[in-house]
Amino acid sequence: MSTIFSGIQPSGTLTIGNYLGAMQQFVKLQEENHCYFCIVDEHAITVPQDRLKLRQNIRSLAALYLAAGIDPNKSTLFIQSEVSAHAELAWIMQSISYIGELERMTQFKDKAVGKEAVSVALLTYPPLMAADILLYNTNLVPVGEDQKQHLELTRNLAQRFNNKYNDIFTIPEISVPKVGARIMSLQEPTKKMSKSDSNEKAFISMLDEPKKIEKKIKSAVTDSEGIVKFDKENKPGISNLLTILASCTGESIEKLEENYAGKGYGEFKQDVAQAVIQVLAPIQDRYDALIEAEELDTILDDGADRAALIANKTLAKAKKATGLGRKRK
Ligand code: TYM
Repeated sequence: MSTIFSGIQPSGTLTIGNYLGAMQQFVKLQEENHCYFCIVDEHAITVPQDRLKLRQNIRSLAALYLAAGIDPNKSTLFIQSEVSAHAELAWIMQSISYIGELERMTQFKDKAVGKEAVSVALLTYPPLMAADILLYNTNLVPVGEDQKQHLELTRNLAQRFNNKYNDIFTIPEISVPKVGARIMSLQEPTKKMSKSDSNEKAFISMLDEPKKIEKKIKSAVTDSEGIVKFDKENKPGISNLLTILASCTGESIEKLEENYAGKGYGEFKQDVAQAVIQVLAPIQDRYDALIEAEELDTILDDGADRAALIANKTLAKAKKATGLGRKRK
């Protein structure tokens, strides 16, 4: 049994990339592990947010976690800003982070280069992520491929702290799914599918209606070869759709290639759309029932209390190791 931690930003409705790369793993992992799943609202404000929308997105993400199958009796679901230890440990982690290594993070470069008003928090985003993970003595962090670099840094920071002060942090392992770790844009399949893409046709939201899903997959960019084959370099669009179909159905890519031998893209796309709809429809039904429910608040209150119990203990150890404060009788 491992301790698992992962987080998702409440910065817009999640895409099937978030689901297939991350959430689907979370639901499986909770069966045999001690799991913490977090709505990382403090990470979301590293870029400008509309106050009312952010509130809505936080609630919506909580409902989606539950609708996707996170069971509050098995996992601790909570909002990052409701457990103050996250921001406090992040400050300590910043004190051992170097500006150079933070500037080298690709996510920072992607979001900052060419922009005029870049917040300091965007640069110090990874030490907050390290704090999230380290507070819970986490052994394993399930994420999509785009978060790997941040997790390598988390491991480095944990090791650095342990060497410099005291050996208090567990060094977490990274877990990336074999298939679905990087779902690509439907319009530019060499780019990651992202919930903040300005082109709505590039991503499928977890709350998209069946008709919309069909339309978006139908208009997904492919190639003119007419052969359903996995070849990331030369056929990124078809490879992406194969990945989506494999992650939704549990079939292997090889088996799917066999099934579609001699068949055209039209039929293939139809099946991809149906597979996505089948995965999302029950989640959407549960979401509708949960979003207004008071139960959601009870679950989040309870989650924050449970998370704070562990987080505050680790924070106290980290403060002591660092020499902060004073000795109390
Ligand atoms: P975020 O909110 O961007 O994404 C949440 C999770 O979804 C995965 N993901 C994808 N997987 C496959 N294909 C895609 N196109 C795709 N897009 C997103 C992400 O890899 C992630 O697992 N920094 C994190 C949130 C975070 C966190 C943490 C994660 C904060 N603290 C501690 C783990 C542990 C982020 O922005 O994820």
